[in-house]
Amino acid sequence: MNFSEFLSAPESLYQRIGAAKLREIVQAFYPLVKAEPLIADLFPDNLSETMNKQEAFLTGFLGGPPLYHQTYGNPMLRYRHREFAITPSRARAWFACFSDAVHSVALGEAVKSELLEAVARTAAAMVNTPEG
Ligand code: HEM
Repeated sequence: MNFSEFLSAPESLYQRIGAAKLREIVQAFYPLVKAEPLIADLFPDNLSETMNKQEAFLTGFLGGPPLYHQTYGNPMLRYRHREFAITPSRARAWFACFSDAVHSVALGEAVKSELLEAVARTAAAMVNTPEG
């Protein structure tokens, strides 16, 4: 979208995706993460808390109610990821899983590409360790 289109956009990306589809994306995402050897071991076996946090975070991040902030406080995402060695390859693997999850859900192409662009930027910003 260009600036004029953003200005006149009637709805947030969150509204255009909808809570139900966002949940579907998050629920599709973590099994893919657990099947990706580069990053699987970083995550706990029981992913329900992780999924709840991610769904709450993405809700606010995409312009919906600030659910993560309300429950957990400021996300400070880079800080909360400091204990995980996120190399460029791991970030790429994480984002590939996220992209596959998005493409597994029935959503318009424009919405998908806006969502992926927003999350790609954040995933790249999460790199905190050079390639080992
Ligand atoms: C780039 C690669 C990334 C890796 C390898 C990664 C890995 C992780 C891991 C291992 C956890 C802890 C899971 C747990 O113990 O419950 C976590 C938590 C989390 N991640 Fe990521 N992450 C990445 C990128 C992102 C991005 C791009 C976002 C947001 C769009 C994100 C959002 C979150 C959130 C909200 C949490 C929960 C934080 C908390 O309250 O503890 N992560 N991530």
